[in-house]
Amino acid sequence: MDFDFDAVIDRVGTYSSKWDTMQAKYGVSPDTGIAMWVADMDFPPPPAVNEVVQQAALHGVHGYFGDDTDYRQALIGWMQRRHDWHVEPDWIINAHGLCNAIGICLQAFSAVGDGVIIFSPVYHAFARIIKANDRQLVESPLVERDGRYHMDLAKLETMLTGNEKILLFCSPHNPGGRVWDKQELAELAGFCEKHDLLLVSDEVHNDLVFAPAKHTVLAKAVPDISHRLVTLVATTKTFNLAGTMIGSMVTANAELRRKIVRVAAAYGTSFNRLGMMMTQTAWRTGDAWLQALLLYLAENRRIFEDGVNQIAGVKAMSIDATYLCWVNFADTGMSSDEFIRRVEAGAQIAANHGATFGTGGASFLRFNIACRRAHVHDAVARLQDAFSDLQ
Ligand SMILES: Cc1ncc(COP(=O)(O)O)c(C=O)c1O
Repeated sequence: MDFDFDAVIDRVGTYSSKWDTMQAKYGVSPDTGIAMWVADMDFPPPPAVNEVVQQAALHGVHGYFGDDTDYRQALIGWMQRRHDWHVEPDWIINAHGLCNAIGICLQAFSAVGDGVIIFSPVYHAFARIIKANDRQLVESPLVERDGRYHMDLAKLETMLTGNEKILLFCSPHNPGGRVWDKQELAELAGFCEKHDLLLVSDEVHNDLVFAPAKHTVLAKAVPDISHRLVTLVATTKTFNLAGTMIGSMVTANAELRRKIVRVAAAYGTSFNRLGMMMTQTAWRTGDAWLQALLLYLAENRRIFEDGVNQIAGVKAMSIDATYLCWVNFADTGMSSDEFIRRVEAGAQIAANHGATFGTGGASFLRFNIACRRAHVHDAVARLQDAFSDLQ
C-alpha cells in the first residue's frame, strides 16, 4: 500500500502548536515561513486511525471511556512484534501523555528538593517538569566524540552528593538522535544500582530509528533492573498522535506500580476516549505505514544533512533516530543571536533554539524534518542563501 507523504495539507488555523504559534514564538510568518520546530509531523496518521475517528463521529455519542483491555493488548502486541519485548497487561499504567507521566514519576519516587539527573542537552520539558516539581536539576553533560553523543558516567559519579533519587533517561536521545547500545544501557543500569537511583527510561522515539541502527529496550537489555525501572512509551511520535495526549508507564515491579497508581489517583486521572481508540488502532494496524514513513524520513534526513553540511562552519550531527536534526553553528564564529537572526529573519524558518535543551546546546538549532520533501529542499536552499557570504 502506498502512503502519500508529499500531500499538501495546510495546518494553519487548526489549533496547531507548530504552525499557529510560530509567528508569536519565532517571529516567522506561517504564510512565508517553514515550521521546523516542535516534534510533530506534518503527516496524517495511518488511514485506519482516522477511520476510527470518523466512525465515532458518525455514531455521535461521546461519553466516558471505559475498559482499556484492547488498549493494553495493542501495546503488548506492538512491543512484542516490533521490539521483541514481553509486557504483561498489569504492568501498564496510563497517563495523559509522557510529560504527564514524567511528572507522576517524579512525585511517586522523589520528594521536594531531591536531585533528578538528566543527560544534557536533552528534551527541554525534562528540566521544566523537574523544576516545576521543586526537584533539584542535576545536569550530566553529554560528550561529543566522533560526531556522536556519549554519556560520561565517571564524571557524573564525581558530581553526586547522595541527594539524587531519579535518573531520567532519553532513549533514543533527543536531540542528537543517538541510539544507545546494549553495553551503554548495561553500564547505566549498573550505575543506577550502585547509587540507588530510580531509572525512568523515556522511549517515546523507539520506533523512529533508521536502519542499520536498532533500538534496544532497556527493560529487555537489563532484565535484573526491573525493581528500579519505569519505561515510558507512546504512539505520539511514531504515528503523529501528539494531540491525543495518551502515553503509558510500564513497569514489571508491583511496588513501583503501587506508588505510581497512588499519585495518578490523586490527580483523578481518567482517559480520553477518542485518544485511546486512535492509539490502539495505530499500534494494531500501523506497521506498513511506519515502514513507508521511515524510508521517507531517511531520504529527508539525507537531503537536509547533506545540504546544511555544505555551508561553511555548519555541521549537522548524524542522527540514527528521530526526525529532529541537530545542527551546530559553532564553527561559523557567530554569536547565537546572529545565526538565529539569519535562520528566522533571513531564511524564515522556525527551529528550536539549542540553549533550551540545556548545557551544551547553545551553539545548535534543532530542525524538524518530518515535513513534505518540497519543504526540506526549500529549507536547505533558504539556509544556504542565508549563510552564502560564508562560502
Ligand atoms: C523524549 C520526549 N519525551 C516526551 C515527549 C512528549 O511527550 P508527550 O507529548 O506524550 O507529553 C517528547 C516530545 O518531543 C520527547 O521528545
